[in-house]
Amino acid sequence: MSEDKKSVSRRQFLNYTLTGAGGFMAAGLIVSPLRMAIDPVLQKSSASGDYTNVKLAVEDITNEPQRVEWKIDQVDGWYESKVTKAAWVYKKENGDIVALSPICKHLGCFVSWEGSDDYPDEFYCPCHGGRYYKSGVNVPNTPPTAGLDIYEHKVENGMLYLGKAQPREEE
Ligand code: FES
Repeated sequence: MSEDKKSVSRRQFLNYTLTGAGGFMAAGLIVSPLRMAIDPVLQKSSASGDYTNVKLAVEDITNEPQRVEWKIDQVDGWYESKVTKAAWVYKKENGDIVALSPICKHLGCFVSWEGSDDYPDEFYCPCHGGRYYKSGVNVPNTPPTAGLDIYEHKVENGMLYLGKAQPREEE
């Protein structure tokens, strides 16, 4: 009975060891920059679902839309900045609070409440004459093809908090 013993020569051992160590180091060189490049994309946004106190007391909200502005920290990849957000806020006849995005759904200009003398009781976009009813629904046959987005909101200690603006389900 002969033993089929395979021995590893010193040269082979060094080859295996150096190849293994080299591969490990090469993987580190490739994976680290790759992870740095895509990490911000994989990060869950800490702002998602957050609400901001927009410094407007609920008792000060009337039936007349008023513009409120606030700042949020925005992280875009590696770039952090303060971004100004805005909303048109009012109370419906039944007291429900409505907070509309001021961003026109045509090409993104800012709409104003009663921004045109020709169209009272409407939001008006000066860029191409886009019009919206007070509810934020777009007036048919004007450039916007959808109504203004609606902010999620909540009330805490009598103050209005706004979250993300969501596209409306068309009425
Ligand atoms: S951007 Fe508002 S109507 Fe065109």
